[in-house]
Amino acid sequence: MNKWITDSSLSGYPGITQGEIKDALSLCVSGVLKYLDDFDGGFPQASSVDNNYIKDKNRGWTTGFYTGEVWLAYEYVKDPVNKEKLRTAAEKQVTSFYGRIRDKFDVEHHDMGFLYSPSCVAAYKLTGSKEGREAAIMAADKLITRFQPVGEFIQAWGEMGAADNYRFIIDCLLNLPLLYWASLETGDEKYRDIAEKHIHTAMKYVIRDNDSTWHTVFMDNTSGAFHHGATCQGYMDGSAWARGQAWGIYGTAMACKYTGRKEYIDYFKRVTGYFLGHLPDDLCPFWDLTFGNGDEKTEPRDSSSAVIAACGMLEMSKYLDGEDAAHYTALAGKLVKAVYDNYSVKDIDSSNGRVLHGTYSKKSPYNTCTEEGVDECVIWGDYYYMEALTRLSNPGWNIYW
Ligand code: GLY
Repeated sequence: MNKWITDSSLSGYPGITQGEIKDALSLCVSGVLKYLDDFDGGFPQASSVDNNYIKDKNRGWTTGFYTGEVWLAYEYVKDPVNKEKLRTAAEKQVTSFYGRIRDKFDVEHHDMGFLYSPSCVAAYKLTGSKEGREAAIMAADKLITRFQPVGEFIQAWGEMGAADNYRFIIDCLLNLPLLYWASLETGDEKYRDIAEKHIHTAMKYVIRDNDSTWHTVFMDNTSGAFHHGATCQGYMDGSAWARGQAWGIYGTAMACKYTGRKEYIDYFKRVTGYFLGHLPDDLCPFWDLTFGNGDEKTEPRDSSSAVIAACGMLEMSKYLDGEDAAHYTALAGKLVKAVYDNYSVKDIDSSNGRVLHGTYSKKSPYNTCTEEGVDECVIWGDYYYMEALTRLSNPGWNIYW
């Protein structure tokens, strides 16, 4: 017996309606506004504690998502007082991002895209912010310093060139739009060249024969050949970390967008098919796709993976033919509906987040992560929920990535 839902049984699930999208987005925006002053001068931490975020400084890889939420709320609201309030808050955060990259504070890693696309690129796209543009270009300059010509990839973490850190991770595909944007803005092809090389390397090695994905891929630092795949935050090396697979869905969509390579459509379909085929019957993934229906009592979900996957499907729908595009748009609507119905924050007095039941890092006997944010709100889950809702309400929305 298949313990997961089957692809064909997905047709029985309802999609989210325009009325629900409007309700959901306006509740998110109310939440952003309600707690805006609490985070003045700082940012929510990556994950909540008992469903409420604590204020922190601009550090780590996740603060850009909060600014992204503020910009999405800014785009949504109509009344001029709240619009101004949101713009002022977002601009103050952009100034913080400018200072962070100028002073090189906690930027020795590859997550420049997660930090600078939804904050500073968004600021530039929405308001023409010069500060946002300059900060984002400095961040792109920083990101390309992590390029490894031997193996042609951007090294994720750690000392550059060290054998035990000579690796890229699937998440990095979402850091690359910053480089495409930087080339477009500056006219300098060096950013795009590096992004393109990383994409081709990642596409070659990150997808396994059964269509699941490696979280991290180690390369040989002498020959540049594939060395081995491993996990950090997944359950074990051969399993499929749910969020890694979701980054793979959105990442292959971005690879199609930016390279225009038709063969990546097939990669997208494979990765997406694996993800959908390993969802439990309420459509919200467990933190690792190795778990299935019946594991609810022992294993937490990662709701953020559902909304990241939905955003990827909605992005990819732009590059697919009619029937395929409609198929993935409909699937995205079902995933977002599942999160809206069962996982979103409905009472904004009880939580300062948008989506419950995310999992940042869960320790297992076989992985190497430090446990953090298990069954909590996670800030990127909140952001991508708002992004998915924005995309569904306005398919022509000008993305921040
Ligand atoms: N990019 C790190 C994570 O998804 O947890």
